[in-house]
Amino acid sequence: MKKLIKIALTLMVIVVAGCSSPQTNQSEDVPVIGVVQLVEHTSLNIIKNAIFEQFDNLGYVDGENCVIKFVNAQGDVANLPTIMQNLKADNVDIVVAITTPVAQAALSLSPDIPVIFSAISDPVGAKVVNALDDTSNNVTGTSDPVKVKQIIDLALSVNPEAKTVGYIYNAGEANSVSNLEILQEYVKEKGLNLETATISVSSELQTASSVIAGKVDFIFVPTDNTVAEAMPILASVGIENNVPVYVGADSMVMDGGFATVGIDYSDLGIETANMVDKVLKGTPISEIPVETFDTNLSIYVNKKTQEALGITLPEDVVNDPKYVEIGE
Ligand code: TRP
Repeated sequence: MKKLIKIALTLMVIVVAGCSSPQTNQSEDVPVIGVVQLVEHTSLNIIKNAIFEQFDNLGYVDGENCVIKFVNAQGDVANLPTIMQNLKADNVDIVVAITTPVAQAALSLSPDIPVIFSAISDPVGAKVVNALDDTSNNVTGTSDPVKVKQIIDLALSVNPEAKTVGYIYNAGEANSVSNLEILQEYVKEKGLNLETATISVSSELQTASSVIAGKVDFIFVPTDNTVAEAMPILASVGIENNVPVYVGADSMVMDGGFATVGIDYSDLGIETANMVDKVLKGTPISEIPVETFDTNLSIYVNKKTQEALGITLPEDVVNDPKYVEIGE
């Protein structure tokens, strides 16, 4: 009998010792946060940096009181399912999904693991949540609808004679498909013609934009990740053809696009991190509705691009308190 107890005790000690090996202990005692970014482009880098800075401000220290597993998918959408499975194997407690394609892939985890998405233009259209206030599927996050109407209105105030708009997008990005639907409605209302061009990888942007530039008065691109990746190329094509390129986000103006009406993506990143904090502190996802960023808008204009295009902006645009110049 005594011997049996001794064996049992020895086994227990082995089991306990196994648990307290540093690695296992770390992932069991502190939250493990997975963060997945689709690709490297200016806006996603701004969002990611804002998320990490806010983690810092909230007291999360990677390797001390949490473990942060960051993955950049390098634009390889086909690899997203594997990235998600790897995070599951790493026992993540929560996943932050930056962009629409990443959030769609993260749905494979959401039955067990809460998902906070970041910067999804149309979370309902992308079928990531049932409704903005129905997050019962363990998924919530921040949304950045493109201000399609305001951007077209800006383009028309700069050039009231414009008749034809060119739209370039990756048809594989649900976010860009949603924005096309909004645009189609609005051009009808405004009596404009619409020319579209699709690309599936950013290396196709140069040709696609050169072709469309010859047919339109201005180009409009939404927050399409594939376009954003090669934004400087599109900006040059616009200038070479003397066609202004209106874009979906401030970052695309920073990368040479002519103008946009949009949000400050740092605010969106900060709120994404706040949502992660809430969930880790016990708030169920179902009690956190999607937060849509559509106020605090600015009009961003790239001065260099404006000069290259020889455009004079209407007084009411320049005098608008929301007017922001980018570049010299
Ligand atoms: N809204 C995009 C999506 O739904 C992601 C995104 C955020 C983005 N900011 C951007 C894409 C700027 C292009 C440019 O996936």
